[in-house]
This record gives sequence, C-alpha cells and structure tokens, in this order.
Amino acid sequence: MGIETSCDETSVSILDSSSKVLSNSTFSQVEIHKEYGGVVPEIASKNHLKKILPIINLSLSEANKKIGDIDYLCVTNGPGLINCLMIGVATTKAISLLENIDVIPINHLEGHIASCFIENKINFPSICLVASGGHTNLYLLEDEKKFFLISSTLDDAAGEAFDKGAKILGLNYPGGVEIDRLAKEGDKNFHSFPIASLESSLDFSFSGLKTSLKYYVEKKDNWKAHINHIASSYQESIVTSLLRNTQKASIKFNAKNILFAGGVACNSRLREAASELFGVKAIFPSNQFCTDNGAMIAMRGLQKIKSGETKVDNNFPVFSSVRLTPHLGLG
Ligand code: KG4
Ligand code: ZN
Repeated sequence: MGIETSCDETSVSILDSSSKVLSNSTFSQVEIHKEYGGVVPEIASKNHLKKILPIINLSLSEANKKIGDIDYLCVTNGPGLINCLMIGVATTKAISLLENIDVIPINHLEGHIASCFIENKINFPSICLVASGGHTNLYLLEDEKKFFLISSTLDDAAGEAFDKGAKILGLNYPGGVEIDRLAKEGDKNFHSFPIASLESSLDFSFSGLKTSLKYYVEKKDNWKAHINHIASSYQESIVTSLLRNTQKASIKFNAKNILFAGGVACNSRLREAASELFGVKAIFPSNQFCTDNGAMIAMRGLQKIKSGETKVDNNFPVFSSVRLTPHLGLG
C-alpha cells in the first residue's frame, strides 16, 4: 500500500507484487484551495486528517483487499508540507503497530520517478525530468535504483511558473491546468517570452519569465482580448526551456528513454513537443500517475523491496526539504 499526503492530495493505492495497480484512490483538495489561489498548509493538513482513513478504506475495497492482506505500508515522509506529511506518517505508523505491518518511508521525488515504471518498461541509461509545483529536477537513471540529480531550478519550479503566471492572468488554481486549457485555442507564436538559457548549465530558471508576463499585462491595456494567445506563448516558453535542457542531458548521457513525471507532465503541449523531439523514446505516465498519487509511492516501495534496499525501522522522521539524491555536480 502506498500512502501520499505531502501536499493537497490524500491518495492511497494498492499494488500487487508484479506492480499491477489494484486501486488508486485519491481525494483532491483542489476545489477547497481554489478560493485562496493556492494550497493553504493548515487547511490541507486538516483535510488529510479527515480523509485519510476513508481513503485507505476506499482503496482497500476497490482492490477487494483487507488490511491484513497488505504486506508493506509505503508512506511519503518528505519533501512536502510538514504538517501534511505528519498526518500520513502518523497514520501509517499507527496502522503498522496495530496490524503488525512493516513501513517503508518513501522520498516523494523518488516516487515521482517511480511513476514512470508503473505502466512502462524503461531502458537504461535514461533521463527523467520531474516537474511539479515545488520541484524541477533532471535525473540520470542508471537503473531502477541508482539515480543521480543532474540539475534543478535556481528559483521557481515549472509548476510554480504555471501557477504564478495563471494568477497574473486572473485564472484559477492550479494554474497549469487553466493555462493548458486556454492555450489549446491560442497561438504559441503570438508573443516571445524570455527563455532562460544558463550557459553550460543544465539548471532551470523561471522567475524572469513570470516577471516578464507581469510587465507585459501591465503595459498592454487590451491583453484580456488575447488571453488564449498569451497563455499559449507563456506555456511555450516553459515547455521550450524544459525540453531544451532535457534534450541536452539526453544527448550528454546517451539516454535510451526520456521520462517525464510530476504534475507538469500532464501538460498537453509538453507531451506533444516531447513526442516530436524524442519520438517513442519519450515516456509519460498517464495523468493519474503524474499528479501526486499513492501508486507512485507504492511503486517506489516495491522497487526498494525487490532490490533488498528496505531496512525496516519505524523510527523514521518527516522532512520538508532535503536533498537525498546524490548530485552529479555538473553545475
Ligand atoms: O506533482 P504535483 O501534483 O504536486 C507537487 O508535487 O507539486 O504537481 C502540481 C503542479 C501544479 O503546479 C500544477 O499547476 C501543475 O502541476 N500541473 C500542470 C498541469 N496539471 C497540473 N502544469 C501544466 N499543465 C498541466 N496540464
Ligand atoms: Zn508531487
């Protein structure tokens, strides 16, 4: 069983030992946080507390299992919102004590990487872009269990660039979904927003892009008449920046597959452009496994169990933000 509560999704999934997804039950708090224009941590944790047991029960009944059938409990212990993580971890530790089931703590970002393995067979070496609301990281994957951080964002994450851009355009949270929707009817070449190009580095930067959108709408009185074109052009800059560095990394490391994970991997233009660029080498999980979900946490747990990496010790902490993956140090 995989349990995920790091942000605003309470999600519980059950996988069998061949990584078949038996259930993936998610309560998304998006509607609750919409009125605040973003996730409010205290409200998020209160809703996790309310939903965690019903979602665990739902996941069990969808999989046609009882808690006693579960061999391992895999739970996200970071990075994420600390009070949200604590709900998932404390609940999992309590079930572990009562039912005598071993717990495996899972790094949320490693979970996102593992989401690519749920539905696909991956060839190595591969490159994985994890682009979410809080992270934009490129990884080199030598195999299922050995991976290295190649680069990350120096400021905003790609999802954050979508969310903040949407706010500037007066759109709802989560902004990525809204911009993706509007952009479908827009011209991506309408305006050229800046694409950060950091010389000889594979790192990302999105804060300048967001600022240029802000100045653009402040200067143009009638911008609302062209909101679809603006959304499309803004999205194109994010996608171009993501793919530029991903392509550089894939060439540098001779990648056999290029994997995309995290909420931003739902983006339809990213999917289209990546397929044009990488053909069948590009791998995208289906949308339900891109945004935060319990299945990716269970999948990462399964990889650890299979590689004998698991060390059962219920005395593990939660962490809001820590770099656990070794960095290749490429700058
Ligand atoms: O992975 P995720 O569900 O949560 C985090 O770990 O952060 O990612 C959420 C992010 C949000 O910033 C949201 O705007 C973005 O994913 N997102 C999208 C799309 N769907 C969700 N961004 C672009 N296009 C989308 N279709
Ligand atoms: Zn995530």
